[in-house]
Amino acid sequence: MTSHRLSPLPGEPSTGEPSTGEPGTPERIGLLEGEASAEEVVVAYHERTKHHFHRYAASLGYMDWATQPDPFRRYAGADIVRLPLPKAGRPLPYWQLYAGAIVPPMPLSLASVSLFFRYALSLTAWKQVGDTTWPLRANPSSGNLHPTEGYAVLPAVGQIGLIGETAAVYHYAPREHALERRAVINAARWTGLTEPFPEGSFFVGLSSVHWREAWKYGERAFRYCQHDVGHALASLRIAAAALGWRLVLLDSVSDGTLSSLLGLDRDEDFAATEREEADLLALISPDLPAPLLTEFKPLTAHGGGVLWQGRANTLSPEHSVEWPVIDAVAQATRRCESSPIKEDFSGFPSEDELFATPIRQGLLTAETAILGRRSAVAMDGSTAISRAAFFRMLARLIPTQERRAMPWDAIPWRPRIHIGLFVHRVDGLAPGIYALARDPDKVDILKRVMHSEFCWHRVPDCPPGLPLYLLQEGDCRALASTVSCGQNIAGDGAFSLAMIADYMDSLAMYGSGFYRNLFWEAGMVGQLLYLEAEEAGIRATGIGCYFDDPVHAAFGIVSREWQSFYHFTVGGPVEDSRLTTLPAYNSEEQQ
Ligand SMILES: Cc1cc2nc3c(=O)[nH]c(=O)nc-3n(C[C@H](O)[C@H](O)[C@H](O)COP(=O)(O)O)c2cc1C
Repeated sequence: MTSHRLSPLPGEPSTGEPSTGEPGTPERIGLLEGEASAEEVVVAYHERTKHHFHRYAASLGYMDWATQPDPFRRYAGADIVRLPLPKAGRPLPYWQLYAGAIVPPMPLSLASVSLFFRYALSLTAWKQVGDTTWPLRANPSSGNLHPTEGYAVLPAVGQIGLIGETAAVYHYAPREHALERRAVINAARWTGLTEPFPEGSFFVGLSSVHWREAWKYGERAFRYCQHDVGHALASLRIAAAALGWRLVLLDSVSDGTLSSLLGLDRDEDFAATEREEADLLALISPDLPAPLLTEFKPLTAHGGGVLWQGRANTLSPEHSVEWPVIDAVAQATRRCESSPIKEDFSGFPSEDELFATPIRQGLLTAETAILGRRSAVAMDGSTAISRAAFFRMLARLIPTQERRAMPWDAIPWRPRIHIGLFVHRVDGLAPGIYALARDPDKVDILKRVMHSEFCWHRVPDCPPGLPLYLLQEGDCRALASTVSCGQNIAGDGAFSLAMIADYMDSLAMYGSGFYRNLFWEAGMVGQLLYLEAEEAGIRATGIGCYFDDPVHAAFGIVSREWQSFYHFTVGGPVEDSRLTTLPAYNSEEQQ
């Protein structure tokens, strides 16, 4: 096959930073009134929030600095439990995160809970330019707006509990690296909650403040909030792995129960426009048997026996604009109690089939990868990566047959996100468009829905278990940038990619609430790419801004059944020399 420059698409915008979306009016879409099914609302939302060459999804169109939301939620009046900052420099190798549980698991204590939140959701640095400073965190966020809030429901451990051995609901405050005690739970209630689970288990929950993201991004913000939840879920899973703990999503819990468990349903504690939407609950345990958690009895909402304290801070002095379609899609994707998803992974590759080179090597520590992860703000347009590094990164994105591969052991469904790759600079690999089918059974259908002229050649020397295919050779740098809202980072990396969701079939199979899960899965893929880039000595960046239908056109996808849900770029970063990096916490300076 001849190599050629793959042409940008008609009507492409000039390259460079995307402009903020045009001002939009959240006019009624006829689907908010109750006559539409939840699935119709989801599909209408998805269509409506696409970016097009000629029109971005509706947003305010400018930054309303007067109403900028506070990125830090606090509960005034709640007791605060300061977590001692863990000593830096833990030698645990990065590769060990993936090599099965670390033995023995750390006992649950003030120190281990502190380390867990440090790795999962804490601040990792402050950046400074002139008089302006802003924090970065272990979990990334679209626009660094951080709509995701973290919670834990913990037994009394060491100095975390109150005298009298009480369990409690905590909110994690990243700026302080502290837990705010939102509710005290009596012993009977705690036993009721945890009785089905192994000794030493506890819960973590995630919620979203949609307003934080909508403030800047308008209607598309619900998508970004869900991406961020996916990144945070992977971050929690990875943190748990570093302590030798398992983590599994409790996918059968209803959002009503989850809101009650985390105290998010308490009208009296929140301003009406700044409520948090319950997203997910996960169980963490030092000892979870496989197969996981399919037969446990469901959790129940709190009744009596719980004493709440604290009131949520106001995040913005006022809200200049509301985004009713976000409320509509949030409502349409709320989950009722359901049976846990159980799926068969026996046709998936084994670890040996996925990794050509042994995975038990490398000098990077888990801590350096987790706390050092950063988004590249620009890529250098020259760094190439080895084929071995490329194959290893992609292999990490596939669940193994035994379902032991972290973080895919945390979610029970087979992959619904597949990868369309724009390969620019991978040594020994022709530049061009490639595909990675994250579920090997989906290769045939992907062949059918994409361009008929794609060649679908197996990549030579690629590990036998890696479903990676060359579709078309050619220089696709301009194409990659163009479809990513003209962002040069997508063309200047070693490779960039589109995460293509098996969309309508997922909604039909699991219900409209699974719209959120598709973004979570995409965010989890992204979080692994971030850490894998650290391992390869380069950087990655999530790309939420892309032109939806032009991406589909690039792959020849005409059916609405398959939709791009997220983009990513990986490559050699250009550091911004104007920025100074400061420690995340003052006490770090003394270490
Ligand atoms: C869902 C999501 C979408 C993002 N979209 C873009 C994007 O379109 N362009 C970009 O340059 N960075 C994008 N980013 C990167 C964020 O700007 C970055 O995560 C944030 O500034 C925090 O920096 P950090 O990742 O170094 O912690 C995105 C990140 C996420 C998680």
